[in-house]
Amino acid sequence: MLEQTINFKITQTPESRVTQVDWENLPFGRLFSDHMLLMEYSNGEWQTPEILPFGPIPVHPATSALHYGQAIFEGMKANKSPEGDVLIFRPEMNAKRFQESCERMGMPLIPETLFVECVRKLVDLDREWIPNKPGYSLYIRPFMFATDEFVGIRPSDNYKFMIFASPVGAYYSEPVNVLIEEHYTRAAEGGVGRAKAAGNYGASLYPAKLGQLKGYHQLLWTDAKTHEFVEESGTMNIVFIIDGKLITPSEESDTILRGITKRSVIEVAQSWGIQIEERKVTVKEIIEAVKNGSCTEAFGAGTAATIAHINKIGFRGEDYYLPAVESRSFSLKMEKYMNDLKNGLIEDEFGWLLKA
Ligand code: PLP
Ligand code: COI
Repeated sequence: MLEQTINFKITQTPESRVTQVDWENLPFGRLFSDHMLLMEYSNGEWQTPEILPFGPIPVHPATSALHYGQAIFEGMKANKSPEGDVLIFRPEMNAKRFQESCERMGMPLIPETLFVECVRKLVDLDREWIPNKPGYSLYIRPFMFATDEFVGIRPSDNYKFMIFASPVGAYYSEPVNVLIEEHYTRAAEGGVGRAKAAGNYGASLYPAKLGQLKGYHQLLWTDAKTHEFVEESGTMNIVFIIDGKLITPSEESDTILRGITKRSVIEVAQSWGIQIEERKVTVKEIIEAVKNGSCTEAFGAGTAATIAHINKIGFRGEDYYLPAVESRSFSLKMEKYMNDLKNGLIEDEFGWLLKA
């Protein structure tokens, strides 16, 4: 039905590049599918979405987003079932979160159905780019930025909404080492931490680099006021299994990205009868629980990161190691469940998959 109501202007590439892909060596995020979607916002409304061959776009030096940071993005994945169906994982959740990001950043909202249909149309056209290998997916990156060619500071009148897609493997190829950050801050209350705003990532790069120089893949951010509470990591939310319970920082404050992977993990865990505690989580209790062995598992949850097992947590010069990954029954079961679900190998009992 939607397909008939939303009009797309489509210019197909004269020659697909898909035959040149080395499927055995897929780096994360460096290879792009044949097409991209572009939809302009001007005169107070969204214009006809266009799908065109993937390639560079001209950028005016005074483009507002480059100077003042009105730029947001999303990330989701598509896979193929054994029958060849294209399955997109919970795109309506990304559409909703995108709207929240738009609102916080003073950008015009995209109706949920339009957002989802733009994603679906592009993925459908580039379906040959979806990897057939376990652990691999087509990563879909919708984004939007302010395009006024104007030096004054105010919300832009013009925007570009774009989507590209990239066949990817794992974002982390090994269990992740995280460092608890007690000095720098990712997000403060009243700020933009809950939005998937480009600037959040820009601001985190320097502290994250300092962590990497010490041998950690990622920081584990703490709250801006006291640095006593664990919030999330740079590319993923954080989940702990302590005394058999799933414990994770609540998203009540506006400083944590409301992750779709973590929400899905919680919903599945609930259906398995696991006790869930979404609440404030202190650094102290986590370090204690790892030390005394009651924290048996910890993982990051994210679209790119998937279920990223945590190897060790660095805190004030000490490293606290989690048990061997092979022993982590919950994380491994969840990892398999989510993989099987996304690849159409088991029943979609929650109704999370959109067929493109
Ligand atoms: N937190 C941050 C800062 C992220 O960048 C991401 C990745 O999108 C997540 C959490 C996980 O969110 P999701 O599961 O929706 O991908
Ligand atoms: C995602 O998981 O979609 C993200 O945005 C994180 C990024 C590191 C790729």
